[in-house]
Amino acid sequence: MNSLIDKLSIEGRLSTQEYRSLLACADDDAVREYAASRARETALARFGNGIYIRGLIEVSNVCRNDCYYCGIRRSNRNVSRYSLSYEEIMECCRTGYALGFRTFVMQGGEISGAADEAITDTVRAVRAEFPDCAITLSLGEKRREVYQRFFDAGANRYLLRHETVTPDHYGRLHPAEMSLEGRLHCLYDLREIGFQTGTGIMVGSPYQTLDNIVADVLFIEKFRPQMIGLGPYLPQHDTPFAAFPAGSMNMTLMLLSVFRLMFPDALIPSTTALATIAPQGRELGILAGANVVMPNLSPADTRAHYALYDNKRATGTEAAEGLRALEAQLESIGYRISFDRGDYSPSGGVRPAGG
Ligand code: 5AD
Repeated sequence: MNSLIDKLSIEGRLSTQEYRSLLACADDDAVREYAASRARETALARFGNGIYIRGLIEVSNVCRNDCYYCGIRRSNRNVSRYSLSYEEIMECCRTGYALGFRTFVMQGGEISGAADEAITDTVRAVRAEFPDCAITLSLGEKRREVYQRFFDAGANRYLLRHETVTPDHYGRLHPAEMSLEGRLHCLYDLREIGFQTGTGIMVGSPYQTLDNIVADVLFIEKFRPQMIGLGPYLPQHDTPFAAFPAGSMNMTLMLLSVFRLMFPDALIPSTTALATIAPQGRELGILAGANVVMPNLSPADTRAHYALYDNKRATGTEAAEGLRALEAQLESIGYRISFDRGDYSPSGGVRPAGG
């Protein structure tokens, strides 16, 4: 297996069968740790020991979708719904800016119509008040015109996980009114508009097979996103999938390493879901090749209501306190916070185009 990892590190890709064999070894500690060590070297060579921070603002938990895995799905009556006001979002950004954040991520449930106008206005205001900051949006599927308005208002990046690229798996995770095709269409629109675009999957989502994961790796290989978001599936007690077990931390770590070796320049977060599944999850993600963390800047009293899954980490900590804890956490493994804006920038020339 180590020779496959070396091959991936040199060529940036493997055959379908080789990806499959490698990923099948996710629970083999020696193989996974070798992949992590190569991925870590790759990230260190490209980014040094700086980890980019993105201030996450959970702007609303109102959602028109009914994804079977997600705690803020429309049918969940036990969620108390909120939407932050323009002024509240600006306050989060001001707090974050003072702490050194230079990227703000506005994430929320999918709502359309008036909400899109409100977001556009907010993006414009953030862009005006913080011209040196990047604005990332994570607000689900929109018509291309809406994405274009977000972009014109000053948004730079967009996160939209495809969740799974296998149509019947997609159909088992989502109600019939949602389509994989629609989602992929959105990703291509975002990229064409000029967003730095992120996609990704939940690892170990219900009914996911190894072949599904391999298909996702191949899709990501082809799509070449600038950002890749991965976290284990975690059950939420009010969803139809409450009884499904959490996804595998080992597979999540293995995939982080595989993606880092495929894409040395990619922005790859060590996610909150990973930090939730294991006490050292965040550190392990970084040691497997991740180079971004997304601390929460949402008002402390709304965080508990943005519960996509149970036991979400750090719902009570205030932003400044959280940042100090993060600093210590990173230091303990030989890393530090990078306060750079951290845009995607291809280094080029390191390896022949196409791998
Ligand atoms: N467990 C883990 N991740 C989840 N997401 C939604 N629900 C869950 C869950 N139960 C992820 C999805 C979505 C992102 C915002 O959060 O991948 O794209």
